[in-house]
Amino acid sequence: MGETDVIDLLQAQHAMIRDLFDEVEQASAKDRAEAFTRLVRLLAVHETAEEEIVHPYARRKIDGGDEVIDDRLAEENEAKELLSRMDQAGPAAPDFMENLLMLRAAVEAHARSEERYEFLQLRAHTSEAERRSMAAGVKAAEAMAPTHPHPGTESATKNLLVGTPVAMMDRVRDVIRQTMGKKP
Ligand SMILES: [Fe+2]
Ligand SMILES: [Fe+2]
Repeated sequence: MGETDVIDLLQAQHAMIRDLFDEVEQASAKDRAEAFTRLVRLLAVHETAEEEIVHPYARRKIDGGDEVIDDRLAEENEAKELLSRMDQAGPAAPDFMENLLMLRAAVEAHARSEERYEFLQLRAHTSEAERRSMAAGVKAAEAMAPTHPHPGTESATKNLLVGTPVAMMDRVRDVIRQTMGKKP
């Protein structure tokens, strides 16, 4: 992806997340697990990048930052809990599709709230240079989870992001902190 503005990158990821929900919903029973794993990886990458890079910045920079970000974090935590429960039960669980629709509604409402209450203001309160430097961490995270991996890259991706959603998020957090030059 060519974007170098962090907000453009995150909004493009919101669109990719919507596409992946479509893929999981439409997948045959045999392909559902693989599609769901790609969705879990992308959500781990996306939400962790926001939590590490963008939310702390927005908290300081935008009007009513504490309230806006506390609300977004609460939404993210709720979605993560559901995601973990779904991951544990597996895509063959009888309530998988019901939970998937619930997760989708929650994640999409959350993304709309970010775009409306956080990203608009963040764009107005930051310089292009600031948004470019924040994009570096998001790109490093995104590189860990190509949404349409071609043969050869899939095995490398698997090694990077495996296990439970929480384990994936921990791994993403380490990579972002290394990239952004913070101590893990
Ligand atoms: Fe988010
Ligand atoms: Fe988001």
